Amino acid sequence: MSERAPPSDAPGDGEHTLPPPPGGLALSPSRAISPALIEAADRAARHWTDERAEPVRLGSARHRDITCRMFPETFNPYKPSVIDWPQLEPAARERLISVPIWDIAVQTEGKARLRMLSYARALSDPAWRGAIELNGWEEGRHKVVLSNLVEAYGITLAPEPAYVEPRDTEWAYLVTGFSECIDSFFAFGLFALAKDSGFFPPELVDTFEPVMQEECRHILLFANWLAWTRRAMPIWRRPWFELRVAAVWLFLGWERIGIARGMDDGGAGKAPAQDNNFTVTGSKAVSDVEVRVPDLMRLCLAENDRRFAGYDQRLRRPTTMPALTRLALRFTRRAAR
Ligand SMILES: [Fe+2]
Ligand SMILES: [Fe+2]
Repeated sequence: MSERAPPSDAPGDGEHTLPPPPGGLALSPSRAISPALIEAADRAARHWTDERAEPVRLGSARHRDITCRMFPETFNPYKPSVIDWPQLEPAARERLISVPIWDIAVQTEGKARLRMLSYARALSDPAWRGAIELNGWEEGRHKVVLSNLVEAYGITLAPEPAYVEPRDTEWAYLVTGFSECIDSFFAFGLFALAKDSGFFPPELVDTFEPVMQEECRHILLFANWLAWTRRAMPIWRRPWFELRVAAVWLFLGWERIGIARGMDDGGAGKAPAQDNNFTVTGSKAVSDVEVRVPDLMRLCLAENDRRFAGYDQRLRRPTTMPALTRLALRFTRRAAR
């Protein structure tokens, strides 16, 4: 994919600064933070149902409108700069530092931010443009959260590559959206595992909880954008679009079995990749108890259902990863008989 220079209003990557959120939203003023307010914001970010009770046809104007209303109305106004990073015992800090994801995590957020903002800018529909622009802004906030965490615990990052704006913005949004669907599905399970195992202190897990729920909102937005786009486009455009969707899955599969990563490693001047597949392989890094793969799959499914449970049931959920996981579980059950 060919790419061009980033827009000039990109926030200073690595400077830990954030522009104000788009769409007239505001962050909580630092002084106003109280446990009750944090809890109310957290609840509002997890629950949203449109007040009109009638069915919603996928691809309709109303489907677009409730999706694009859900997104800003579940916005969590936390300010990354006021996150109080808990003191860690030396052993817990060591465990955190040795998780092999920090470079890739920061860079993934930087890339996702730019790709979403680029796609949003290319859209003429103000409803989708506003929602996807906010999603891009939230990826920028994730990057600031991660950068602050890394700094707080003395984790050294590799220099970040330049973030360049994609020319094919729809392709870049599709790749980012489906990647988030895969990564979030496994991250939900690993996060619950890290919490239950006590491998990381509960305050640190709690600090990350809003970020995890935001990824749930992001893939909810993506799944509904995809469902709406598929149905709203003229019928003659659909085969080309579906071919692109299939190509994205092939690309991601290829990337995740390591071929693309291996090739990237050889690229001159590129920082060595860390674990692109961490969300698929990372159970050992977040728990010191041996976890059976089928148990982890079941946990991912349960967490996926739990995180989506509070949103309007008429909104489409991501379906591919849960369906593939259920299929894999059926095979493992049959093999175990
Ligand atoms: Fe993110
Ligand atoms: Fe995201």
